Amino acid sequence: PMEYRLALIGFGTVGQGFVEILRDQNVQLTEQFGVNFRITGVSDVRLGSIHDPAGFEPEALLDAVRNGGGLETIPALDQGWDATQMAQESAADVVVELSFTDLETGEPATTHVRKALESGKHVVTTNKGPVALHWPELSELAGERGLQIGVEGTVMSGTPTVNLGLNLLRAANIRGVRGILNGTCNYILTRMEAGSSYEHVLAEAQEKGYAEADPAGDVEGFDAAGKVVILGNLLMDEPLAMSDVDRTGISGLTLEDIESATASGERWKLIGSLERGPDGVTASVAPQRVPLTHPLSSVGGAMNAITFDTELMGEVTLVGAGAGRVETGYSVLVDLLEIHRTRSG
Ligand code: HSE
Repeated sequence: PMEYRLALIGFGTVGQGFVEILRDQNVQLTEQFGVNFRITGVSDVRLGSIHDPAGFEPEALLDAVRNGGGLETIPALDQGWDATQMAQESAADVVVELSFTDLETGEPATTHVRKALESGKHVVTTNKGPVALHWPELSELAGERGLQIGVEGTVMSGTPTVNLGLNLLRAANIRGVRGILNGTCNYILTRMEAGSSYEHVLAEAQEKGYAEADPAGDVEGFDAAGKVVILGNLLMDEPLAMSDVDRTGISGLTLEDIESATASGERWKLIGSLERGPDGVTASVAPQRVPLTHPLSSVGGAMNAITFDTELMGEVTLVGAGAGRVETGYSVLVDLLEIHRTRSG
């Protein structure tokens, strides 16, 4: 099998979900795709950092987290490398960037991605920051060096949104998209429809782990806006910035608003949208009343969905998870297999 050495930056929920998949599916991956993934580095701000070209067993990595000892309890050639050094110096073919998202600066993830590309490594990331804020620069850098950047997990986790748009619907001419791109907001709206108050369900969403630690990123629409910018750049070739998105969150919606929509056969959804018009692409995030007859209206709870509006295929709607340990971990696998497909094709 063809072997790929991976350096992981960030070993939180998503990284652990991905490593669990590798642990459980390694044999199947070799049989089905002729590929073998070897983790040769992991750097995490809280768990420590290890690097060894010989590679680490997935189970040993997971165990070091479970037993509380941290990564540096595992014997390794190098320990203590920070993320930038890992991106730059590790003996890896692909840097998997899974650090926390910062939609204001895109850092430190953007630096990690840049260093990885500059040192000749492919990148896979689930981090919205670098992609929403620096896509034109990073994709040019990758292109110049014949490298790939996989970003499937930045929108709707492992639900194949980016791949569907980029590889299967682009030739149908995507005129626009409308999507439920934030699970926290959709969960809140769904629960409010059942009569719960905004404050109560926000607290619930935080408990269940959908909402970010600072839920403003979710409820004020920043997270959805980041995803809209990513889709605009990748699927509609429009160099959108965060400031181009006309953004309204859901914090202003009252129970009366919800009831009034219900009374007229509609449902509030926080909709991220892109629309190509005569003057370019318009981007927005706002609560909208969606008729119960539209597929997006039936997507409840933390589930996400997107409707592509295409010239040749009309509307195509994709519904699936928008977050989650294994779900987002799966996006990393999909991007790695795409790199393998391109290299071996
Ligand atoms: N906080 C995000 C959500 C997680 O609620 O959808 C996925 O980006």
